Amino acid sequence: MGINIAVAGKGGTGKTTISALLVRNLIKKKNGSVLALDADPNSNLNELLGVKISNTVGQLVENFKKNGAIISSGIYKDQMVEMNIHQSIIEGNGFDLLIMGRGEGPGCYCAANNLFKKYIDVLQDSYDYIVMDNEAGMEHLSRKTTHNVKYLLIISDPSLRGILTAARLRDLSKELQINVEKVFLILNRVNDELDDRLLKYIKEQKFEILGTIYTDKNIIDLELSGKPIFELPDNSVSVSQVNNILKSLGL
Ligand SMILES: Nc1ncnc2c1ncn2[C@@H]1O[C@H](COP(=O)(O)OP(=O)(O)O)[C@@H](O)[C@H]1O
Ligand SMILES: [Mg+2]
Repeated sequence: MGINIAVAGKGGTGKTTISALLVRNLIKKKNGSVLALDADPNSNLNELLGVKISNTVGQLVENFKKNGAIISSGIYKDQMVEMNIHQSIIEGNGFDLLIMGRGEGPGCYCAANNLFKKYIDVLQDSYDYIVMDNEAGMEHLSRKTTHNVKYLLIISDPSLRGILTAARLRDLSKELQINVEKVFLILNRVNDELDDRLLKYIKEQKFEILGTIYTDKNIIDLELSGKPIFELPDNSVSVSQVNNILKSLGL
């Protein structure tokens, strides 16, 4: 089974950026196959990974509906899952990408969500590394699924309020009974040395810091020019810091 790294955090903390950096660095290591999962219906992981969205699980659900193939209770036949899974995978340069997306109109999100879960269950054995960019709610990770998350990386800025939100997300992951082996905190957009009061609070919240990532001028520049993560210079501070994070995980 692949090593499943899930990235979570409040909106704007850097989930998508860090997911893309993880994918970039894992590919460079040439140490196995990589599947990127975009599980945030509002996300743009594909843009950072430099691939066009040709299809999403949400769109597939829409097609099912149009063809009357969907079972109203939202339960999908296993064969249907197997049959359609490969239609939904987008091939990138050195990695594959699966996008959850959403259907049209109310209720469609849930159907896309359920099918996405089933897909992950099927796909987890086919890749060495799975990097999952999540929406804050993490609903698609919840029980009713057999897949395990090895590392849940919660991203926060270096502020007390950020850490509190991160702690709430960790609690939420427990409430959702997500199978997580280990939860870590990553501090992103760090500009100064970490204040003792912040470190004390992080300890009180029983978080283990896996790594810090500085505000990186190269990321700001990349974003402004709309370029993919692979064009980030190798000597960028964020690249080496994400590499340190992977090393800390033994990867
Ligand atoms: N370490 C960093 N240095 C500079 N800019 C960053 C850094 N991390 C994230 N950003 C920027 O912050 C914004 C939000 O990041 P994003 O990854 O989209 O967050 P999320 O996916 O959590 O909503 C983006 O414009 C991104 O380029
Ligand atoms: Mg995002």
